[in-house]
Amino acid sequence: MSSQIKNLILVASAKGGVGKSTVAVNLALSLRDMGYRTGLLDADVYGPSIPTMLGKDAKPTSTDGKNIIPVERFGIKLMSMGYMVDPNTAMIWRGPMLAGAVTQFVNEVEWGELDYLVFDLPPGTGDIQLTLAQRFKVRGALMVTTPQEVALVDVIRGKAMFDKVRVPILGLVENMSYFICPHGDRVEIFAHGGGQKAAKELGLNFFGEIPIETNIRICSDDGTPIVEAHPDSDSSKRFAQVAQELDAVIQAQEAAEAAAQTGRGKLKIITH
Ligand SMILES: Nc1ncnc2c1ncn2[C@@H]1O[C@H](COP(=O)(O)OP(=O)(O)OP(=O)(O)O)[C@@H](O)[C@H]1O
Ligand SMILES: [Mg+2]
Repeated sequence: MSSQIKNLILVASAKGGVGKSTVAVNLALSLRDMGYRTGLLDADVYGPSIPTMLGKDAKPTSTDGKNIIPVERFGIKLMSMGYMVDPNTAMIWRGPMLAGAVTQFVNEVEWGELDYLVFDLPPGTGDIQLTLAQRFKVRGALMVTTPQEVALVDVIRGKAMFDKVRVPILGLVENMSYFICPHGDRVEIFAHGGGQKAAKELGLNFFGEIPIETNIRICSDDGTPIVEAHPDSDSSKRFAQVAQELDAVIQAQEAAEAAAQTGRGKLKIITH
């Protein structure tokens, strides 16, 4: 890999439609707001969302017909299967082809130096998830869930898969948590607290709740996500909190790794 990517982060869920792409896009923008060099890779070949959420018109370019220069939008580097492959053609791809294409995206896209590369994964526990975990040093996964009691089963399923491939789960975020009516009342459409409960039961970090907000959907559909369009909104602040908590977990991991290295170094001196 010619690019230098410090942290690969997977945004994942066992169940579809819970808001992975929404979280991935707004997380990437929030990490950018923290001053990090950030990239976003849409690994969903069958249903790529990034071009819709961040602008359909852009296209990646190439200087030599081999390398791929990612699209830049709002200060983050982007790559999506949707820019390269017609989703209708991709429908007939099998797992290994899919995994190969995603690997190529990591290796051949000129990401440059990045602090974070956020992967927006397709739903489920399939080939792409496994391939990424096996071929690259993944820092960890951010799992997205919804508040219902039944969503716990999906979190357990997702955790089991990541445990199997030894990708640590950095934390859990509950999306579509509650709805604030135009009158200001809070309505808990899917009950409340499922995400926090799941995190507690499974021993995972809980990074917060994102409300259902019409504006989140409208901004995504318009190609300017809420963190960019309305940075002072309550929802944007909640995405910023997710980014800060995720970053804090990673900083702590890095510090622990550095300490372990130093510890090993010392041990070596003593034993020789
Ligand atoms: N907090 C939210 N408030 C309002 N709408 C939301 C919210 N989160 C997601 N949505 C909307 O719900 C739909 C599904 O979200 P999204 O595409 O992010 O889910 P996903 O988990 O990536 O789906 P898939 O599994 O198909 O990849 C989109 O139309 C999105 O705009
Ligand atoms: Mg998606």
